[in-house]
Amino acid sequence: MSAGAIGQAHPRLEGRAKVTGTARYAMEYPVDGVTYGWVVQAAVVRGRITHIDTTEALASPGVLAVVHHGNAPRLATTPGPNLWLLQDPAVHYRGQYVAVVVATTLEAAREGAQLVRIEYDAGPHSTVLTDDHPGLYKPDHVNPAYPTDTAEGDFDAGYAAAQVRVDATYQTPAYHNNPMEPHATTAQWTDGRLLVHDSNQGATSVRATLAELFDVPRESVRVIAEHVGGGFGSKGYAKPAVVLAALAARHVDRPVKLALTRQQIFGPIGYRTPTIQRVRLAADTDGRLTAISHDSISQTSQILEYTESVAVYTRSMYAAPHRRTSHRVTRLDVPTPFWMRAPGECPGAYALESAMDELAVATGIDPVELRIRNDTEIDPDQGAPFTSRNLVACLREGAQRFGWADRNPTPRSRREGRFLIGSGVAGSAYPSESVPASARITARPDGSFLVQINATDIGTGARTALWLVAADALQVPPERVEIRIGDSELPAAPVAGASMGTSSWSWAVIRAGEALRGKLRDGVPPDAEVSAEVDTSDELNAQAKKPKFAYGAQFVEVRVDTTTGEIRLNRMLGVFAAGRIVNPTTARSQLIGGMTMGVSMALHEGGLFDERYGDWVNHDLGTYHITACADVESIEAYWLDERDDELNAAGVKGIGEVGIVGAAAAVANAVYHATGVRIRDLPIQLDKLIGTSALA
Ligand code: MOS
Repeated sequence: MSAGAIGQAHPRLEGRAKVTGTARYAMEYPVDGVTYGWVVQAAVVRGRITHIDTTEALASPGVLAVVHHGNAPRLATTPGPNLWLLQDPAVHYRGQYVAVVVATTLEAAREGAQLVRIEYDAGPHSTVLTDDHPGLYKPDHVNPAYPTDTAEGDFDAGYAAAQVRVDATYQTPAYHNNPMEPHATTAQWTDGRLLVHDSNQGATSVRATLAELFDVPRESVRVIAEHVGGGFGSKGYAKPAVVLAALAARHVDRPVKLALTRQQIFGPIGYRTPTIQRVRLAADTDGRLTAISHDSISQTSQILEYTESVAVYTRSMYAAPHRRTSHRVTRLDVPTPFWMRAPGECPGAYALESAMDELAVATGIDPVELRIRNDTEIDPDQGAPFTSRNLVACLREGAQRFGWADRNPTPRSRREGRFLIGSGVAGSAYPSESVPASARITARPDGSFLVQINATDIGTGARTALWLVAADALQVPPERVEIRIGDSELPAAPVAGASMGTSSWSWAVIRAGEALRGKLRDGVPPDAEVSAEVDTSDELNAQAKKPKFAYGAQFVEVRVDTTTGEIRLNRMLGVFAAGRIVNPTTARSQLIGGMTMGVSMALHEGGLFDERYGDWVNHDLGTYHITACADVESIEAYWLDERDDELNAAGVKGIGEVGIVGAAAAVANAVYHATGVRIRDLPIQLDKLIGTSALA
């Protein structure tokens, strides 16, 4: 592959369409005879529906139907309990979608939903995660397929024998995915065929799930996701909106548009589980780790086991002869937690990178230096060398750019007026895996090329990145390449998730480009269209598994108001080593976006749970604050020029998630440095500082 387009900054191909409002999202396709669905949510936590009175709703102007378990089309059971919607009267958590009102207008559907009367037989519930919850058990595996526990050496002996020890427990609340575009679908049935315009992260898997649920051949289902306004993992596979819209459309025999409201997505679409994490670190007086232990407790629902892979980060980050990790989970009467940007690594790194800061304090070693001393070329988990690991280079370059050398390590040593200023650092890592994909490229007589792959651009810039990759693979300027993604009619490709999208899709695009060039005479357009289609399954399945990770170092400066306890972010700087960066423009926004989301986790977000009510009470962006521009005064992301030929065809590591990992710890560590007070449960807000020595 010749160098060329890759690495050149380029604006998003669809940028103009998006800012002028002509890019269509799932709810924006004009459809003749369309109707509107509005969901009704369960008003009890646990129990069963004993009666649904739809009389008033059906009498309301414009209402066509109330679809519920008593009248909904039947689904096949195979795709799993989370999508078993409107099929039985059981209620497993408050807010479960239990009916859809369909009407000729959105307003009429909404009005009708207020008029559905539901009676329940409700039982007692358990909804709050505690470290002694009687339901805690050891799951079979953790998300997606990692071992539940690991152990090497003898942790207890290593820990007991150490010169310096840290034993700390960290807690994180539930965090809710809030993509700009909520989960939304337009569904149409025509002669037994289903067409959906759906907001998701992967139309190939959504099509497969819908085909199974509705018991039709895959060829009878088409899923279009041309533009998607964010997902963060919450749209990682078929979710309730698409199933409810398809059910409702079949029931009323008309097209249905169904968008969940902002309030309706807090919980039932999946959220980041609350965690309780105990980390124990032991080291010699030089700060060299001798024993590491990370025990995670999290929650799942009554209907489906999902265990967040919280301690997995700790398995590969720093070396020590004695190590253990564990996960325990309990089933609560809550919605099923699910993926949220860097599931596992994000909350896990908050705990480990906070504990590393505590170890730095305990040993008197600078926290950047402590991490450098505990770097390893061998993955302690897999026992094999990393394909490339540039954590140390990220720490060094970050420290230099941030001005870390000037830092006085003593907490509370910097005061400006009524503000205490502090700085913190954390490491970051995220796996760089790839999965099989297929792609087709066509050479046209006019010298242009058409690239087709069912990739998804959830706002990341994936479309533009693949277009640049394709140009280099074809050895032509990008202007001669047209790219089509976001449609299940295109060659099958994996989900935009786990930071594997660009690596997986580009692999197929590059191989298709090579195959096509083999069919063409050098540089000469064909007389008629010539295509090449490849599938990378054989190639990827034959690959030896090696430890592959992107790395980063996060640096944060905060100021804490000693009068009010308010914490503000002065500046944040991240340096990342993530293989080849395809498009600096969109890569920068991915990294900055991840970092900002980590600041949000540390300082602003958090589900406030009321046990009596059995649900979160903050269900909107007024009461669930997400870090906004005004909260981030200065944020910068840089990357190293990293080449790693063992990764994948394009040499990329994935950048969607590494930016959030470690970010919350860097903020928390900065708050400690500013105030001398260690807050171990997120978010760190003023009420947790009031009454402590922080404000003295
Ligand atoms: Mo990401 S949480 O893998 O979409």
